[in-house]
Amino acid sequence: MDKLLIRGGKALRGEVEISGAKNAALPIMAATILSPGLNTLYNIPDLKDIKTMSTVLESMGGKVARADEDGALMINTEGVETVEAPYELVKTMRASVLTLGPLMARFGYARVSMPGGCAIGARPINLHLMGLEKMGAEITLSQGYVVARAERLKGADINFDTVTVTGTENLMMAAVLANGVTRLENAAREPEVCDLAGVLIQMGAHITGVGTPLIEIEGVNELKPANYRIIPDRIETGTFLAFAGITGGDILIKNCEVTHIGSLIKKFMEAGLNINEEAGGLRVIGPHAGILKAAEVATSPYPGFPTDMQAQLMALMCVADGTSIIRETIFENRFMHAAELRRMGANIEVEDNLAIVKGVNKLLGAQVMATDLRASASLVVAALAAEGETIIDRIYHLDRGYEKIEYKLSKLGADIHRVSA
Ligand code: EPZ
Repeated sequence: MDKLLIRGGKALRGEVEISGAKNAALPIMAATILSPGLNTLYNIPDLKDIKTMSTVLESMGGKVARADEDGALMINTEGVETVEAPYELVKTMRASVLTLGPLMARFGYARVSMPGGCAIGARPINLHLMGLEKMGAEITLSQGYVVARAERLKGADINFDTVTVTGTENLMMAAVLANGVTRLENAAREPEVCDLAGVLIQMGAHITGVGTPLIEIEGVNELKPANYRIIPDRIETGTFLAFAGITGGDILIKNCEVTHIGSLIKKFMEAGLNINEEAGGLRVIGPHAGILKAAEVATSPYPGFPTDMQAQLMALMCVADGTSIIRETIFENRFMHAAELRRMGANIEVEDNLAIVKGVNKLLGAQVMATDLRASASLVVAALAAEGETIIDRIYHLDRGYEKIEYKLSKLGADIHRVSA
């Protein structure tokens, strides 16, 4: 397993380009099941999860190929016949469950492995299945698979009692070819959900209310292939804000979408970072006199502070001046990075969904282990400022969501190396 070796203490300086958003690319790749023919997607990051979704589509009979310009990915789903997402693939990436809605819309039948839980929580898909049943699907569970059938899905009023990103995405894709109008109430408003709607509308879908809690979809008979550029990754952008903040650096972040990170900019400025739009990007400078201020934050669905940035903020707060309070309201077990940060000298008390972080003068390099994608990012944040060397193990978690991370950080002056064990 690869490891990352990081020697902390360098202030990061220079320019970095943000890659396309993983959590926009995954549903949009699944959406190509709805539009047989050659779909071309741009700004698709080169990540393990993208490769996994490509394998899922190929296992169904689709053809996927990279072009070498502008992160282009070409997907032809003409030949999709197998309406199954196998356990071997779903267990490595739960987002494979995003094929359920499009398969039901196009074929009226799907057999998709139930995604297991994962490190950060049980992550059930009951709301996805509730919505499909309301649209007329007959759902049975057998041998760990969801088997769904419907003559043709029909429009329905669906209310989510919890905001669910992929639940909203799955049912939006199920509804675009359904007979009639579907209303999604308490729908997710994340930019990635809006980006999925953008590509579906380009394919010919009739969708209104995107970005609000009520999305309406009027079913059509067919969709045509897409030619679409996906949005930049707001979580990668936020992670680079944390890198700049903890090293007292000065970074110009290019190819980011500032309108997607309002809550992040607000919180990081409260912590003392200087953040301004300039030169076609976002300039972020570490805190005045290197002193970070403690913060209070509760994660919440967009446009609130994203749960996917909670671990990175926690790492930053480990060396802030004062005591920070972090409340995780989305997932039940998303503080596993705390134990690893403690091994680097952090002072963090966790109680249920609350973490109390008392700032310390400095963190010390140590051997630590990544447990999930964003937890691994928080360990990189901490290691960049820690005294001495940090060795981060199991960085395959990191490779799921960050494209060329050590290359981007090295270019900014970080002392970072990947070693293959
Ligand atoms: C998406 O996961 C993201 N993944 C996650 O990013 C992100 O953390 C999460 O949204 C929240 O923003 C992708 O987009 C591929 P949810 P998702 O359904 O859709 C409960 C990363 O780091 N729930 O919005 O699976 C659920 O348990 C990943 O890139 C149900 O109870 O999350 C959770 O408590 C990690 N029943 C809450 O809702 C359901 O049927 C929000 O989950 C569905 C969800």
